[in-house]
Amino acid sequence: MTSPLIQTPVWKKLEQHQAELKSFSLRHELDDTSRHADLNIDAAGLHADFSKHLVSKKTLSLLIDLARQVNVEPARNAMMAGEKINLSEDRAVLHTALRAAAGSVIKESENNIVPEVQSTLDRMEEFSGSVRDGSYKGYTGKSITDIVHIGIGGSDLGPRFAIDALQDFAGALTIHFVSNVDGSALDTVLKKVNPETTLFIVASKTFTTAETLLNAGTARAWLIDKSGSKESISRHFIGLSANVPAAQKFGIETVFPLWDWVGGRYSLWSAIGLPIMLSIGGDNFRKFLAGAREMDTHFSTAPLEKNIPVLMALLGIWYRNFWAYPAHLILPYDDRLGKMAKYIQQMDMESNGKAVRQDGQPVDYETAPFIFGEPGTDSQHSYMQLVHQGTTPVPVDFVACIKAHHKLAGHHESLLSNCLAQSRALAIGMTLDEAQNDPLRVFTGNRPSTTFLLPELTPETLGALIAAYEHKVFVQGVIWNINSFDQPGVELGKKLTKEIQSRLEDKSSDKLDLSTEGLLTLIKR
Ligand code: F6P
Repeated sequence: MTSPLIQTPVWKKLEQHQAELKSFSLRHELDDTSRHADLNIDAAGLHADFSKHLVSKKTLSLLIDLARQVNVEPARNAMMAGEKINLSEDRAVLHTALRAAAGSVIKESENNIVPEVQSTLDRMEEFSGSVRDGSYKGYTGKSITDIVHIGIGGSDLGPRFAIDALQDFAGALTIHFVSNVDGSALDTVLKKVNPETTLFIVASKTFTTAETLLNAGTARAWLIDKSGSKESISRHFIGLSANVPAAQKFGIETVFPLWDWVGGRYSLWSAIGLPIMLSIGGDNFRKFLAGAREMDTHFSTAPLEKNIPVLMALLGIWYRNFWAYPAHLILPYDDRLGKMAKYIQQMDMESNGKAVRQDGQPVDYETAPFIFGEPGTDSQHSYMQLVHQGTTPVPVDFVACIKAHHKLAGHHESLLSNCLAQSRALAIGMTLDEAQNDPLRVFTGNRPSTTFLLPELTPETLGALIAAYEHKVFVQGVIWNINSFDQPGVELGKKLTKEIQSRLEDKSSDKLDLSTEGLLTLIKR
């Protein structure tokens, strides 16, 4: 039976309207001053220019109707109020509580969770302050110089991305990341660090993730071997987990908690963000939270028509469901945002890469697109050819900072010019006439993009930018009627890994499919 989404009165209208827009010309529309004013939004320190999209006033009004007809606003309020909207796991979704103002009241199962969040933040700040100022000592009395953060997925990508992005705010600590179970990842880091001055952080919400536990166990054995005693563990291993007993059982005394209402891919605001705090300091970490909080306020209070995350979400739905565009490109014109696409990729694809609705029925529409990206200008010399002239249009998010943090002459002007040139070329294209009758040089144009301008890259603006994407993903999940906060698709791979490892280590003789058997034979030979 057709899903309730497709049956909403506005869905049919949007389908018909999409057909009407076949002759829409961005080249022409971009000369309309009122359109430009309507489609630019400033909020939480970000400027978002949505004017280079395949939308008219009517499109926007239909999309906003869609958001209303599927109850986006009540769903948003339910999330913010701590209702158990993660139905499959029977949990609240409260990453917004991690950045709520101290003193505010947010209840989860009748308990105000803000005091516990704040006291954990205070503990993290005290601890990171002592490591940063050198007063925290290792087992031989030396200060810490290197942090090795061990985690994967949401327990890795957020800190990696934010630390890189906020490198201009970093202190003296060198922070290394190990996520991959491939021993070469850990081995490379261990060769660089001194056991006397290295602090290992084991970040795992569940503290059951096989890759993290193997890497952490190997690091622990390395430390014991180098220090000659198990006593060193207590000074050199810190845990970040919602499963405090498991971390303690592993031998870690100092554990900073998070809670089951923090999803892994939304956890960089929690104790999982400790390496960010170690890098940029407590004050800056609090500014990072404050930037996200500003975006939360904007998302909760701005009318849908002027709401950055809501428009991001609706435009995504427009292209995915009505234009059948399968991908979405994230192009930060800022080298410090080099890990942004990878981070958003996990947030978006692990959240909304689902084909079954909340009620257990299969969807009869497309859901999350493929997210990819790299910093411009490098991407201009790799896949942008396809984005400009390939057969499948790819909507783009450009992200740039007005002010650079360096003083190198000419670079920032060149960077920003490249950014604006790309979005302009995508939108207006090049006619046959302009291409002097050379069909190979014709650009169709009409290729959509959003441009986000940040005044500069600071903890506040980064926090607001990330929170905007989180809310975008949430709104799309509501419209598609899927649970954005579980990840059952990851489980089968974990189970099969265990079975195959048993075969590889000759602990089982269970027969597998012929392809896997053939590969195992070759590997064992
Ligand atoms: O990749 C699946 C996943 O469950 C992510 O959602 C999560 O961020 C990651 O594994 C790591 O999980 P944990 O923090 O429990 O080790």
